[in-house]
Amino acid sequence: MIKHETIEKNIGLMILLIIIVISGGGLAEIVPLFFQSSTTKPIEGLRTYNALELEGRDIYIREGCHVCHTQMIRPFRAETERYGHYSTANEFVWEHPFLWGSKRTGPDLARVGGRYSDDWQKAHLYNPRDVVPESKMPSYPWLFENKLTGKDTAAKMTALRKLGVPYTDEQISTAREDVQGKTEIDALVSYLQSLGKTHSVYTNQR
Ligand code: HEC
Repeated sequence: MIKHETIEKNIGLMILLIIIVISGGGLAEIVPLFFQSSTTKPIEGLRTYNALELEGRDIYIREGCHVCHTQMIRPFRAETERYGHYSTANEFVWEHPFLWGSKRTGPDLARVGGRYSDDWQKAHLYNPRDVVPESKMPSYPWLFENKLTGKDTAAKMTALRKLGVPYTDEQISTAREDVQGKTEIDALVSYLQSLGKTHSVYTNQR
């Protein structure tokens, strides 16, 4: 048995023991999450992003939309009244990487799908101040010119399938023609319209 005094007088030993205690506590919280079905099984009826939505998601990441927008509705009344049902872990099991974000300069987008028309989304991304005069969001006019080639779309789906996203052979084989020639804005808007709409479990979605 080590005496308490020995620990208090030996900073190296103290640091080591603190690390052991904190790691134990951390592991006890984290490890079960890898095995609970509520965090590992997809929510009922979840569908995968189609080829165009998947490309839109990559544009969302490239443009850094997640730096200003979260996709994570917290379980508080002020949040659920504004954004809809709070987010649950089983909605995100096929997200690689997840885009929860950590800072809200703009509103949460977890359930923004269907809230506005495609035309509104396009006008807003072209120049946010045309539709929301006080907006601080940047403009993204180049998305209207850049076209998708689709040359990597199938490879992205194959990689996601390795991570457990159930893309079918058919989805992968038609991926290229599904996106080829479409503009980046088409892809991004179809991704935004899919947010919160890839399953229909929560009836109070906005
Ligand atoms: C510098 C921070 C910033 C960045 C980067 C940003 N936004 Fe925004 N966004 C905002 C702010 C602030 C608002 C609220 C004002 C408005 O509607 O324009 C907003 C609003 C929105 C809305 C409307 C949400 C609602 O519920 O009314 C959507 C959709 C949106 N942004 C999408 C995007 C997308 C897609 C990108 C990346 C291409 C992006 N934003 C990048 C700050 C940002």
